[in-house]
Amino acid sequence: MIWAVLPAAGRGQRFGGPIPKQYLHAAGKPLIEHALAALLAHPRVSGAMVALSADDALWPGWSELLGKPVLRCIGGGERADSVLAGLRALPGHAGDDTLVLVHDAARPNLRRADLDALIAAAEGDPAGAILGAPLRDTLKRAGAGRILATEPRDGLWRAFTPQAFRRGALTAALAEAAAAGVVVTDEASAMERIGLRPRLVEGREDNLKVTTPADLALAEYLLGA
Ligand code: CTP
Ligand code: MG
Repeated sequence: MIWAVLPAAGRGQRFGGPIPKQYLHAAGKPLIEHALAALLAHPRVSGAMVALSADDALWPGWSELLGKPVLRCIGGGERADSVLAGLRALPGHAGDDTLVLVHDAARPNLRRADLDALIAAAEGDPAGAILGAPLRDTLKRAGAGRILATEPRDGLWRAFTPQAFRRGALTAALAEAAAAGVVVTDEASAMERIGLRPRLVEGREDNLKVTTPADLALAEYLLGA
């Protein structure tokens, strides 16, 4: 069994504007609907858990989408808190070995082939797997608006979502990071903290997370194509 967990309790501060970015539309649908549909369309995915902010007035109230259950819970102050809340609210036992796909609600352009590759990698590996891509640009360390150094790019990847782990292992890893007061910005970092080495699955560069208005224009283009 595979479940999707979508952290969707952010406020979109870098985007700005009156509503959180996951509810902005691209190609006729809110970003969160694109993200949910991409996961629920996969035949192996049984349902989705969405973590919303306590004062969310924009959630459309879906209890199912594409014929599969959509459950919801209240998220937390940081992305990792929202993911942990989602994992704990899933049906079944918190320590079970359900495969979970954690995916940003603001990442609308996930393609089926990437999801297939991720699931295949994560199922065969107790450390789990994430989608990502190698860095392509030259990297500069900056200080006061000037270049301090050119950093080696070899071996550096960008981390995308979905990130796929066994529910029990990821819950324990995120709880450990929270107890230590460490804010992790993705699920893999929590697994790395407890000594695991999740697999990197190279995915499409156009699986973008909408962070700024320019990203929304790009998402509109990609989803409309
Ligand atoms: N998220 C969440 N709970 C939080 C913070 C973020 O569920 N406390 C979710 C966002 O809704 C988004 C995903 O995590 O789907 C990725 O986070 P990010 O891109 O940082 O979104 P925001 O936190 O909303 O944006 P910003 O950091 O610019 O405020
Ligand atoms: Mg954020």
